[in-house]
Amino acid sequence: MARCFVTRELPGSDLERLREAHEVEVWPEPRPPTGDELRTGAADAEGLLTLLTERVDADLIATLPRLRAISNFAVGTDNVDLAAASERGIPVGNTPEVLTDATADLALALMLAVARRLCPAAAVVREGRWGPWAPDFMLGRDLHRATVAIVGGGRIGSAVARRLEGFDCRILVAGRADRDGLAELVAEADFVSVHTPLTEQTREMIGEPELRAMKRTAYLVNTARGPIVATAALERALREGWIAGAALDVTDPEPLPADHPLLEAPNLLVVPHIGSATHRTREAMARIAVDNLLAALAGERMPHCANPEAYERPS
Ligand code: DGY
Repeated sequence: MARCFVTRELPGSDLERLREAHEVEVWPEPRPPTGDELRTGAADAEGLLTLLTERVDADLIATLPRLRAISNFAVGTDNVDLAAASERGIPVGNTPEVLTDATADLALALMLAVARRLCPAAAVVREGRWGPWAPDFMLGRDLHRATVAIVGGGRIGSAVARRLEGFDCRILVAGRADRDGLAELVAEADFVSVHTPLTEQTREMIGEPELRAMKRTAYLVNTARGPIVATAALERALREGWIAGAALDVTDPEPLPADHPLLEAPNLLVVPHIGSATHRTREAMARIAVDNLLAALAGERMPHCANPEAYERPS
């Protein structure tokens, strides 16, 4: 029986499977543990199950001598220092595939919401400002037959592209390594949708040159990670009309404080990182996160491992 520290209760009943096999302590609060609280809770843990809100950096890993496995309840692992974990031979699990469709659905919802002005239109009704029907009232732009640039052609980007075929869209794809030439690609698009993982290579991949290159009538959608888009440049792009609008499920910083200047920018829709937030998806993520931890603690390969090089370390 290994000691496991889990940083939040998870949806569904899969944590029970972990409790049946191991001694499990779950961080009891709805807020994330601070760095110190995480260090204390995980002090003698062999298994660690974290969320994307926890920073599992080299310092933390170095202070957990018994740690044998990290399971991240997310497909993204930018909150975990994979190199430091690999160096110790610690596999890091993630939860790919099961959240692809939910996240792709949200990307489409955001494209439609921002371009068809759903939030301002709904506010007009609620605030009693709904006047007689008028030819020029609340005009937006079409998604159907638009050109959409997908930045990051992996699982989620491809799922977005499949959905957009149903809207008769023209799809352009830029890989995460295609920083050179990205400005030219986004210049052709009516929508730019971001789907790369966050790495040092993709940080601020959408910056001032790309935003300035976009059409004044185009929209930016980000359902990947906030720091892939340069926040200050986006704020200027919206204020100065370089682009028509943006819809974000992820921001930098995250959570975005209510008094953050970005929220003052026009034509911006922000939702609080809900890409995978459906009952079925979150339960599937919990199942995989527990499977990953159980496998590693049993000395088996994790079914979904983000740093397979951890297994290649000579023992
Ligand atoms: C992930 O899994 O990386 C998402 O951002 C949250 O589900």
